[in-house]
Amino acid sequence: MQSGQRPKYLNLMQIRLPLPGIVSIAHRISGVLMFLAIPFIAYMLHVVVRDEAGFLEIRTLMDNIIIKLALFVLIWSLLHHLFAGIRYLLIDFDVGVDKPTARASAAVVMAAAIVSAVITGVLLI
Ligand code: HEM
Repeated sequence: MQSGQRPKYLNLMQIRLPLPGIVSIAHRISGVLMFLAIPFIAYMLHVVVRDEAGFLEIRTLMDNIIIKLALFVLIWSLLHHLFAGIRYLLIDFDVGVDKPTARASAAVVMAAAIVSAVITGVLLI
Protein backbone atom coordinates (compact mmCIF):
# COMPACT_ATOMS: atom_id res chain seq x y z
CA MET A 1 0.00 0.00 0.00
CA GLN A 2 1.41 3.44 -0.92
CA SER A 3 1.64 6.09 1.76
CA GLY A 4 -1.13 8.22 0.15
CA GLN A 5 -3.58 5.28 0.35
CA ARG A 6 -3.11 4.53 4.03
CA PRO A 7 -6.31 4.31 6.03
CA LYS A 8 -7.10 7.49 7.93
CA TYR A 9 -7.05 7.56 11.71
CA LEU A 10 -10.55 8.63 12.68
CA ASN A 11 -10.85 10.42 15.99
CA LEU A 12 -14.56 10.04 16.80
CA MET A 13 -14.35 12.93 19.29
CA GLN A 14 -13.27 15.31 16.52
CA ILE A 15 -15.91 14.34 13.99
CA ARG A 16 -18.71 16.93 13.89
CA LEU A 17 -21.83 14.87 13.46
CA PRO A 18 -24.47 16.52 11.24
CA LEU A 19 -28.00 16.94 12.65
CA PRO A 20 -29.43 13.88 10.81
CA GLY A 21 -26.67 11.84 12.48
CA ILE A 22 -27.62 13.16 15.92
CA VAL A 23 -31.31 12.38 15.22
CA SER A 24 -30.30 8.86 14.17
CA ILE A 25 -28.27 8.17 17.31
CA ALA A 26 -31.03 9.65 19.48
CA HIS A 27 -33.53 7.38 17.68
CA ARG A 28 -31.48 4.31 18.61
CA ILE A 29 -30.92 5.49 22.21
CA SER A 30 -34.63 6.30 22.64
CA GLY A 31 -35.63 2.86 21.31
CA VAL A 32 -33.27 1.11 23.73
CA LEU A 33 -34.42 3.30 26.67
CA MET A 34 -38.09 2.49 26.01
CA PHE A 35 -37.28 -1.20 25.68
CA LEU A 36 -35.37 -1.23 28.98
CA ALA A 37 -38.18 0.68 30.71
CA ILE A 38 -40.88 -1.88 29.83
CA PRO A 39 -40.53 -4.00 33.05
CA PHE A 40 -40.63 -0.89 35.29
CA ILE A 41 -43.62 0.65 33.50
CA ALA A 42 -45.44 -2.71 33.52
CA TYR A 43 -44.77 -3.09 37.28
CA MET A 44 -45.98 0.47 37.98
CA LEU A 45 -49.13 -0.20 35.96
CA HIS A 46 -49.69 -3.45 37.88
CA VAL A 47 -49.35 -1.67 41.25
CA VAL A 48 -51.37 1.44 40.31
CA VAL A 49 -54.48 -0.59 39.33
CA ARG A 50 -54.08 -3.22 42.10
CA ASP A 51 -55.89 -1.35 44.89
CA GLU A 52 -56.15 2.07 46.56
CA ALA A 53 -52.93 1.54 48.53
CA GLY A 54 -51.10 0.72 45.28
CA PHE A 55 -52.48 3.85 43.64
CA LEU A 56 -51.29 6.00 46.56
CA GLU A 57 -47.89 4.23 46.50
CA ILE A 58 -47.35 5.17 42.84
CA ARG A 59 -48.68 8.69 43.44
CA THR A 60 -46.13 9.17 46.22
CA LEU A 61 -43.42 7.73 43.99
CA MET A 62 -44.37 10.26 41.31
CA ASP A 63 -43.48 13.10 43.71
CA ASN A 64 -39.84 12.02 43.53
CA ILE A 65 -37.83 14.36 41.28
CA ILE A 66 -35.68 11.48 39.95
CA ILE A 67 -38.83 9.57 38.91
CA LYS A 68 -40.23 12.76 37.33
CA LEU A 69 -36.99 13.22 35.40
CA ALA A 70 -36.96 9.56 34.29
CA LEU A 71 -40.57 9.86 33.11
CA PHE A 72 -39.75 13.05 31.21
CA VAL A 73 -36.85 11.26 29.47
CA LEU A 74 -39.23 8.39 28.59
CA ILE A 75 -41.86 10.80 27.22
CA TRP A 76 -39.17 12.49 25.11
CA SER A 77 -37.92 9.04 24.01
CA LEU A 78 -41.36 8.00 22.79
CA LEU A 79 -41.97 11.29 20.95
CA HIS A 80 -38.50 11.48 19.40
CA HIS A 81 -38.69 7.83 18.39
CA LEU A 82 -42.16 8.34 16.91
CA PHE A 83 -41.25 11.47 14.88
CA ALA A 84 -37.85 10.14 13.78
CA GLY A 85 -39.45 6.75 12.97
CA ILE A 86 -42.01 8.45 10.71
CA ARG A 87 -39.11 10.39 9.07
CA TYR A 88 -37.25 7.11 8.38
CA LEU A 89 -40.36 5.45 6.98
CA LEU A 90 -40.84 8.45 4.61
CA ILE A 91 -37.17 8.26 3.60
CA ASP A 92 -37.66 4.52 2.94
CA PHE A 93 -40.33 5.62 0.43
CA ASP A 94 -37.84 8.10 -1.12
CA VAL A 95 -39.58 11.12 0.40
CA GLY A 96 -37.16 13.86 1.55
CA VAL A 97 -33.96 12.04 0.64
CA ASP A 98 -32.05 15.04 -0.77
CA LYS A 99 -29.59 16.70 1.59
CA PRO A 100 -31.36 20.04 2.30
CA THR A 101 -34.73 18.35 2.91
CA ALA A 102 -33.12 15.62 5.06
CA ARG A 103 -31.40 18.31 7.16
CA ALA A 104 -34.61 20.32 7.50
CA SER A 105 -36.68 17.26 8.47
CA ALA A 106 -34.03 16.30 11.06
CA ALA A 107 -34.35 19.77 12.62
CA VAL A 108 -38.17 19.46 12.60
CA VAL A 109 -37.98 16.04 14.32
CA MET A 110 -35.55 17.32 16.96
CA ALA A 111 -37.60 20.47 17.72
CA ALA A 112 -41.01 18.76 17.56
CA ALA A 113 -39.90 16.05 20.02
CA ILE A 114 -38.47 18.54 22.52
CA VAL A 115 -41.43 20.95 22.34
CA SER A 116 -44.08 18.22 22.55
CA ALA A 117 -42.16 16.45 25.37
CA VAL A 118 -42.07 19.69 27.39
CA ILE A 119 -45.80 20.31 26.80
CA THR A 120 -46.69 16.68 27.68
CA GLY A 121 -44.36 16.75 30.70
CA VAL A 122 -45.91 19.98 32.04
CA LEU A 123 -49.44 18.58 31.56
CA LEU A 124 -48.84 15.06 32.89
CA ILE A 125 -45.95 14.97 35.36
C1 HEM B 1 -44.17 5.07 18.44
C2 HEM B 1 -44.16 4.43 17.29
C3 HEM B 1 -42.87 3.89 16.72
C4 HEM B 1 -42.40 4.10 15.46
C5 HEM B 1 -43.06 4.94 14.37
C6 HEM B 1 -41.15 3.37 15.35
C7 HEM B 1 -40.35 3.33 14.22
C8 HEM B 1 -39.16 2.70 14.11
C9 HEM B 1 -38.39 2.55 12.90
C10 HEM B 1 -38.79 3.08 11.52
C11 HEM B 1 -37.27 1.87 13.20
C12 HEM B 1 -36.14 1.47 12.24
C13 HEM B 1 -35.14 2.61 12.14
C14 HEM B 1 -34.02 2.30 11.15
O1 HEM B 1 -34.35 2.02 9.99
O2 HEM B 1 -32.85 2.38 11.55
C15 HEM B 1 -37.30 1.58 14.63
C16 HEM B 1 -36.30 0.94 15.33
C17 HEM B 1 -36.36 0.60 16.65
N1 HEM B 1 -37.44 0.79 17.50
FE1 HEM B 1 -39.12 1.77 17.03
N2 HEM B 1 -40.86 2.76 16.54
C18 HEM B 1 -41.89 3.02 17.42
C19 HEM B 1 -42.01 2.59 18.72
C20 HEM B 1 -41.04 1.89 19.40
C21 HEM B 1 -41.15 1.48 20.79
C22 HEM B 1 -42.38 1.75 21.68
C23 HEM B 1 -39.96 0.86 21.11
C24 HEM B 1 -39.50 0.23 22.39
C25 HEM B 1 -40.29 -0.21 23.34
C26 HEM B 1 -39.14 0.85 19.93
C27 HEM B 1 -37.87 0.34 19.87
C28 HEM B 1 -37.08 0.33 18.75
C29 HEM B 1 -35.72 -0.14 18.72
C30 HEM B 1 -34.92 -0.72 19.89
C31 HEM B 1 -35.28 0.03 17.40
C32 HEM B 1 -33.90 -0.32 16.83
C33 HEM B 1 -33.08 0.97 16.86
C34 HEM B 1 -31.79 0.86 16.12
O3 HEM B 1 -31.28 -0.24 15.93
O4 HEM B 1 -31.26 1.92 15.70
N3 HEM B 1 -39.82 1.48 18.91
N4 HEM B 1 -38.46 2.10 15.16
